[in-house]
Amino acid sequence: MTKKTYNIIDLFCGCGGLSKGFEKAGYRTLLGVDIEQSALNTFEKNHECAVGLNLDLAASDSFNKIDNVVNGRNIDVIIGGPPCQGFSLTGPRNFEDKRNKLYLAMIESVRRYQPQAFLIENVPGMANLYKGAVKDEIIKRFTEMGYNVNCKIVCAADYGVPQIRKRLVFVGLKQSPVKYEFPTPILEEKDYITCKQAIGDLPSLVDELGTEVASYSSEPQTAFQKQMRGDCNVLYNHVAVNHKDFVKQVIAQVPDGGNYKDLPEGVGTSRNFHMAWTRYASNKPSRTIDTGHRNNFHYKWNRCPTVRESARLQSFPDDFVFTGNKTQQNRQVGNAVPVLLAYALAKQILKYLK
Ligand SMILES: C[S@@+](CC[C@H](N)C(=O)[O-])C[C@H]1O[C@@H](n2cnc3c(N)ncnc32)[C@H](O)[C@@H]1O
Repeated sequence: MTKKTYNIIDLFCGCGGLSKGFEKAGYRTLLGVDIEQSALNTFEKNHECAVGLNLDLAASDSFNKIDNVVNGRNIDVIIGGPPCQGFSLTGPRNFEDKRNKLYLAMIESVRRYQPQAFLIENVPGMANLYKGAVKDEIIKRFTEMGYNVNCKIVCAADYGVPQIRKRLVFVGLKQSPVKYEFPTPILEEKDYITCKQAIGDLPSLVDELGTEVASYSSEPQTAFQKQMRGDCNVLYNHVAVNHKDFVKQVIAQVPDGGNYKDLPEGVGTSRNFHMAWTRYASNKPSRTIDTGHRNNFHYKWNRCPTVRESARLQSFPDDFVFTGNKTQQNRQVGNAVPVLLAYALAKQILKYLK
């Protein structure tokens, strides 16, 4: 008997961390939509069967173009992580406010393609926005369309990602008598994958600042490193920032896991906000990967993590290649849903699909 492959579309796909996790669980990505071409280039490079569409999902005609690509095919699951900047809900009925258009695009896609399930990912702060009214309104909208919706703040580290990254996830199941049960964590806190376990095998680049180092210099040392390398034998996106001497001198004085508070009086005073001069702790998962603000440093080397190191901390496999300039690559990595978190959520959704 042939195994059914479920079709997904990924809205606000970025480079496609979310859909990559779904593909790992056996789904087929038909389409990714984003407004940022550099992210779409990376998405297309790493999602062989998918089309990348550059569209503004706030625009009223965007669904005509999506319809053309879908071309009557069945969509089993719709996934997406709409940005929620500027979200507004000043009264119970103004979800239609144009600032909420990006969320409305998610709702419109589900209304149009009637998938068996949908998944929406967002920052955890979304849960308390307007005292929870936004979250409640989202659940209400999808419930009215016949979906049984559940939502939860999940932590990526629980699912094997070497990073403390919390996200609010909504999953809706069409006409289902039961709600989606979020997957059981696979790791306890004491067993979380640490930074060293995640990136300790990657070359230091101490003597190769600014150039791409394309080969591994050691064997993988942990199960996680083996998993990320897979069959990959070329190291992509491993380029170190050539910091100014004063930055290197400051960071050299911060211990493993420390920050600006560990600096001697008068050193590094140019940056004194709470995240400044933070070195990842080698024996813990990383804090939430950002989009490349250069405030976080390698636990051992006096430099920011390379795109590949950040990608590892987001559980992207090493054969996932990021394109565009360094700023764009860092943004793609920092915006993404960690692949192993997406995989855990996707595998669990399979249990509910017909
Ligand atoms: C949080 S990121 C999504 C990351 C993605 N889910 C992943 O796992 O890699 C949000 C994306 O929404 C895109 N975006 C923002 N405004 C948009 C719009 N009006 N239309 C389409 N995409 C938009 C951004 O370019 C960004 O890539």
